[in-house]
Amino acid sequence: MAASTEHDSPAEAPQSVVEEEESKTFKDLGVTDVLCEACDQLGWAKPTKIQIEAIPLAIQGRDIIGLAETGSGKTGAFALPILNALLETPQRLFALVLTPTRELAFQISEQFEALGSSIGVQSAVIVGGIDSMSQSLALAKKPHIVIATPGRLIDHLENTKGFNLRALKYLVMDEADRILNMDFETEVDKILKVIPRDRKTFLFSATMTKKVQKLQRAALKNPVKCAVSSKYQTVEKLQQYYLFIPSKFKTKRLGSLNKFKAKARSILLATDVASRGLDIPHVDVVVNFDIPTHSKDYIHRVGRTARAGRSGKSITFVTQYDVELFQRIEHLIGKKLPVFPTQDEEVMMLTERVTEAQRFARMELREHGEKKKRSREDAGDNDDTEGAIGVRNKVAGGKMKKRKGR
Ligand SMILES: Nc1ncnc2c1ncn2[C@@H]1O[C@H](COP(=O)(O)OP(=O)(O)OP(=O)(O)O)[C@@H](O)[C@H]1O
Ligand SMILES: [Mg+2]
Repeated sequence: MAASTEHDSPAEAPQSVVEEEESKTFKDLGVTDVLCEACDQLGWAKPTKIQIEAIPLAIQGRDIIGLAETGSGKTGAFALPILNALLETPQRLFALVLTPTRELAFQISEQFEALGSSIGVQSAVIVGGIDSMSQSLALAKKPHIVIATPGRLIDHLENTKGFNLRALKYLVMDEADRILNMDFETEVDKILKVIPRDRKTFLFSATMTKKVQKLQRAALKNPVKCAVSSKYQTVEKLQQYYLFIPSKFKTKRLGSLNKFKAKARSILLATDVASRGLDIPHVDVVVNFDIPTHSKDYIHRVGRTARAGRSGKSITFVTQYDVELFQRIEHLIGKKLPVFPTQDEEVMMLTERVTEAQRFARMELREHGEKKKRSREDAGDNDDTEGAIGVRNKVAGGKMKKRKGR
């Protein structure tokens, strides 16, 4: 891989440059009028920092490694240049977006369709756990954009007659550090073998591997690194707390969360089911009921709140067994977290709600356990091991791990 050019964070640039950057419009970045209108209709008044950094370079035809914090609009940063190029040279099976989970694939497809609705962009979502036949039909129609989890895409590349990606112009790896992880190694290598070498490649994530070998696997050509955050940064508007709980009192203490419910807050109880990429509006509080074993996952989990400039809170439960993992997280994000203030007496007065919360927690944990088991048994469906399994219901229109407070 050729040496990459580092783009400094605007935060380190002189004031005048910062002001100039902040007043930029989508049009200034080279985005065509019809797409600027689409942004406007989505309520995107101006581009975010990563969009300002990445879009012009992507439009110039560079390969991009985009690193920016959770909820900072990375999807738009790769979708807009692709749609822009598609408008210039319309072509079927133009771009492939690889994502680690099916829920994320649907979300990205929604964003492509929202931005591209007025220009008739067609996308297909190719993920496990869904009828293969209907996906084959969707691929037969030759959509412009394919959004896929690696495992199921391989199935179709190998078994769906007439489907190939030999004319592909753009490859995106969203949550790229995850896609380039060992779990997807075989699949990604297979995919890279059957798409043209002569293409543009975009890697995006809130946490990025610095391991050159891993990045080399993506076969980037003279990439530009657009980094508007440090490698493991959490959002400034996120207030992060921890709550120390001896493990035997853990569910008792769940009662303290009722304080949020009383204020009609939305709480996301985070396990790894709701970790990466998902953009769920109005999550005000993320609760890490169990501490993430991979410190990087912490960043993705708490990143489900405080998105797109909003504020949010996260509370991480720490038992006596979690202290070391917790310290590792603090070290990774370079922050010492304050303890979450609770009043024991108030908590005691909420026993009824505590009991209800306990029941809820038990039910959720059981449901998660069963789904995990089921998904393990689901042959050939190992393309989302990080498992956004429980959140799948969101896409199906069902309930998810989110409670609206009363
Ligand atoms: N320019 C913009 N102005 C306002 N909102 C925007 C803009 N661009 C994107 N958004 C919105 O910001 C939210 C977060 O965007 P997105 O999901 O792309 O974040 P992300 O950087 O990919 O986060 P994650 O690392 O968690 O995947 C979305 O609801 C999106 O519609
Ligand atoms: Mg994302």
